[in-house]
Amino acid sequence: MKTIYVDNNATTKVDPLVVDAMLPFFSEQYGNPSSMHDFGGKVAQHIQEAREKIAALIHASPEEIVFTSCGTESDSTAIWATISSFPNKKHIITSRVEHPAVKNLVEHLGKKGYRVTFVPVDRQGNLDLDALYGQLSDDTALVSVMWANNETGVIFPIDEIARAIKERGIVFHTDAVQAVGKIPVDVSRHPIDMLSLSGHKIHGPKGIGVLYIKKGTKFSPFLIGGHQEKGRRGGTENVASIIGLGKAAELAADHLKSDWQKVADLRDRLEAGLLRSVPQSIVNGNSDARLPNTTSISFEYIEGESILLMLNELGICASSGSACTSGSLEPSHVLRAMGVPFTAAHGSIRFSLSQYNTKEEIDYITEKLPPIIERLRQLSPFWNQGKPAESSMLTGAECPI
Ligand SMILES: Cc1ncc(COP(=O)(O)O)c(C=O)c1O
Repeated sequence: MKTIYVDNNATTKVDPLVVDAMLPFFSEQYGNPSSMHDFGGKVAQHIQEAREKIAALIHASPEEIVFTSCGTESDSTAIWATISSFPNKKHIITSRVEHPAVKNLVEHLGKKGYRVTFVPVDRQGNLDLDALYGQLSDDTALVSVMWANNETGVIFPIDEIARAIKERGIVFHTDAVQAVGKIPVDVSRHPIDMLSLSGHKIHGPKGIGVLYIKKGTKFSPFLIGGHQEKGRRGGTENVASIIGLGKAAELAADHLKSDWQKVADLRDRLEAGLLRSVPQSIVNGNSDARLPNTTSISFEYIEGESILLMLNELGICASSGSACTSGSLEPSHVLRAMGVPFTAAHGSIRFSLSQYNTKEEIDYITEKLPPIIERLRQLSPFWNQGKPAESSMLTGAECPI
């Protein structure tokens, strides 16, 4: 059975050119880049070249690039570094739709005495900018707002947000893990202090991330150890993955020039095909400010997990907007923050495409999915017993699906 992979916001295929670039660093050029000998020194040179490629992708200087182990570590580092640098400031602002890498850490800090403001979004997933600006105060240590949402693809106006925050002299971090490589990201044009990105979202390897730290930003390391990364992140470098990320960044910069319109056209074809053939299906999120590869679609009155299992039988890999943990069916915090009714949030599927997807794959999904929805709806007591009004907002406990 052929695999149709439309889950690229979860992770991406490592580009074969990236694999080729990495291989020599396992068994041939395995020196430690910190060593005094030339064998290690040559590896350090390759790391520097990778640093330059990543800097070029986001228009930073190479010295502003710090390698980490993943996007999560980059987010954590930005947050811990800032609160340690400003110990007297006890307020953090973020959005209600952040990835758990930010959300769970700031919630944890909320329990440790920090005041955390979660800025709301509207029904389209747009950030309430007035609510954000109204919360800025002399006690605010950090604002951390994602560039693009991993579930809906909605893009926040990072330039405008960064400018308003910097006018108040507050540190601004953005989790750009989903944005980098898919839309132009130019840190030289926006007053961003710190930015996170991750290798495995841009056809690079897993287990490698970057924190961009603007020159002059107050910083104290999260991983304290050796002098690597100019003392900003201790630990022997993950050389092969750094080289892989450098190659992936180079390829991503090329793809930005051409490939994404093709991906956006495929995404639109998928969306239009499904909306046309499945009644009561809705796209979640602002279609005008959205990543080119992402669509989150709610199929009302059925459960996303059931849809995914049936897609899985056909080799189609997508993901659901809801996180089903320990038997409790809780729809995603992103869709809840957007006010998507439970009956729709439960039946949400995220399709996230890449330049490897084809028209034939998209047409296969639009052919196979509508009968699956129809079958599941026939089994749904909710669908059969007359559908409740769109406005009825059920609580998790009341929701029978
Ligand atoms: C928006 C966002 N931030 C952070 C992360 C975490 O990245 P990593 O998996 O590299 O830790 C992800 C991964 O899905 C993400 O989508």
